[in-house]
Amino acid sequence: MRFLGSALVWVPVWVDAVPTRLIIDTDIGGGGCMDVDDVGAICMANALADNAEVELLAVVANTNPPLGVGAISVLNEFYGRGHVPIGAYKDTDLNISQFLPYTSDLVTGWPSPIKNSTQVPRAVQVYRRVLAMQPDNSVVISSIGLLTNLAALLKSEPDEYSPLAGRELLSQKVRLLTVMGGEYPGDGLTPQGCNFCGCAFGDKASVRTAAAASSFLLSNLPGGVQVIYIGASLGHQVSTGGKLSTCTPSDNPCRRAYIDYTGGPGLTRFSWDLVTTLVAVRGVAAAGCSVCASCDGRNVVNATTGANRWAFGRATNQTYLVIENAQLAADTIDDLLCQPPKHRQAEEGEVHQ
Ligand SMILES: *[C@@H]1O[C@H](CO)[C@@H](O)[C@H](O)[C@H]1NC(C)=O
Ligand SMILES: *[C@@H]1O[C@H](CO)[C@@H](O)[C@H](O)[C@H]1NC(C)=O
Ligand SMILES: *[C@@H]1O[C@H](CO)[C@@H](O)[C@H](O)[C@H]1NC(C)=O
Ligand SMILES: *[C@@H]1O[C@H](CO)[C@@H](O)[C@H](O)[C@H]1NC(C)=O
Repeated sequence: MRFLGSALVWVPVWVDAVPTRLIIDTDIGGGGCMDVDDVGAICMANALADNAEVELLAVVANTNPPLGVGAISVLNEFYGRGHVPIGAYKDTDLNISQFLPYTSDLVTGWPSPIKNSTQVPRAVQVYRRVLAMQPDNSVVISSIGLLTNLAALLKSEPDEYSPLAGRELLSQKVRLLTVMGGEYPGDGLTPQGCNFCGCAFGDKASVRTAAAASSFLLSNLPGGVQVIYIGASLGHQVSTGGKLSTCTPSDNPCRRAYIDYTGGPGLTRFSWDLVTTLVAVRGVAAAGCSVCASCDGRNVVNATTGANRWAFGRATNQTYLVIENAQLAADTIDDLLCQPPKHRQAEEGEVHQ
């Protein structure tokens, strides 16, 4: 524990542990499920980075709306991390251009080095460049949107960043992948949620792209990478973000996005992406969850529809989450969302002294 002066609260800081090297892959602002929990996940990851629990390596967007990366940049900049690499999905095989009002509110109302996707490289390039620089078996990826970027990474060829093909690069550098998508055990017939299928707002072409990417990724992931899946109904049990209206000032962009999305101060939203990212960093138990017992097997996604099912069978490095203590998950997440950005505390501290 360390005392952070101006906030007058004790903030636990895990200074002794090695920070988790984290990459977030998000459909923030629109294009996938059109929700606000992506904002929460990025804000929470920055709070964890303030606590030295995370080293935020990169944030990449996996859908098309050009302003999505602007919203990412606003949030990172607010926490003093405007330098963190951002990548965008630029292929034309996804055609989901709708975006949520909070996206433009953030990009026009807050400062950020990046405004739209014309200013950043393709996500797969960011993945390859950043992964190549990391120690082996050290990177954790929180996948909280479509699996388009991860599929592209898996298919990528050796380049100026790494002599390894995508599958080898992923296998060598990534230790854990947490994936929000689908339902567990699932029936394989009806797509659940939208991350595997792109089917909430996408046209037919987009659904084909999203479902094919999900199926390809899940069928070709290196077996040595640990994978934890989080299903749609689990996220419904954890509601967060309402406290932002009272625990943070009005210039906090995370607060603004939640109020924009939910329609008013104090309202909460389900926490799919937040639980997924919390598990990636603090582990399963700290997020009020356990992994399914007696659920050896693997996740299978239909390449046409994006519907998934758990194929019970021999043990793999894949599993899925079960919620045990939704209140613990919600309280942990809200505490992190309420935590003031560390660089701002330092600046305010200097002003007041
Ligand atoms: C994208 O969708 C719009 C309608 O939402 C349609 O007019 C347009 O032709 C589509 N573009 C592609 C490349 O499929
Ligand atoms: C992207 O942002 C840059 C810099 O603000 C701006 O010049 C450009 O017009 C924007 N492009 C789009 C498509 O919005
Ligand atoms: C699980 O991962 C470990 C470590 O990466 C690897 O040694 C093992 O072979 C994997 N197990 C399976 C069943 O693929
Ligand atoms: C995928 O879903 C389609 C439509 O429901 C079905 O026709 C097809 O058989 C499924 N594919 C597999 C491999 O199960």
